[in-house]
Amino acid sequence: MPDRCVGPFSLMFPPNRKVRLMKRAASPIFVAAIMALGLPVAASAQAWSDQAIDPAADHPEVPVSYEDGGRYYTEDDIPTFNIGDDGAVDWLSFSGFRRYHSECHVCHGPDGEGSTYAPKIKNSAVNLEYYDFVDVVVNGRKSGNSVMPHFGDNKNVMCYLDDIYVYLKARGMEAIPRGRPAKKAGKSDLIAETENACMG
Ligand code: HEC
Repeated sequence: MPDRCVGPFSLMFPPNRKVRLMKRAASPIFVAAIMALGLPVAASAQAWSDQAIDPAADHPEVPVSYEDGGRYYTEDDIPTFNIGDDGAVDWLSFSGFRRYHSECHVCHGPDGEGSTYAPKIKNSAVNLEYYDFVDVVVNGRKSGNSVMPHFGDNKNVMCYLDDIYVYLKARGMEAIPRGRPAKKAGKSDLIAETENACMG
């Protein structure tokens, strides 16, 4: 079951996700080991957004395993999008479309397509692990003159981070076309309650 209390802190460190976070801690050591051997490492900060996506390939963080009150999750409890039989997008994807275009689009371009200034994050949402995506948005990132601001204290982003994430993932998988989704599922009571609790 996913956490029902979604706020900036519970989002980052929900108890049932600790195991995965710990497992991931090994990767920087692995990278350091490769570097010590003098082997080339893809160091570009924007590599994830440049990597093309084949929607037909296996993407473990995409398929829906279960629904909880209008939110959809993979078998690893990662938020994901859902397209209904009638083509309606789930509420979070629709909400994410709106939030993305008010908070992120100025730099990342319409529909997550990227710009000359900031990467194509519709690809990053598929290629980056969920926690890495969240980490960049919460804490920001800087590579020389290229600056991603931190949004950890911005409720208009934090309370809708899963919305933005699933919307971009749907875009990256080409599951929804560019522009405003034509059809959407309704907003569930649970989603409304969680939103109100988060916005305060
Ligand atoms: C002021 C411009 C700006 C805004 C606004 C902005 N970003 Fe960024 N973002 C950037 C830049 C520039 C980078 C690349 C940073 C780097 O080179 O390390 C970036 C990187 C990222 C990355 C990492 C991509 C990757 O492939 O590693 C993610 C994820 C991201 N942004 C998400 C968001 C989200 C979500 C929003 C809206 C809530 C947002 N950004 C708003 C400028 C911005």
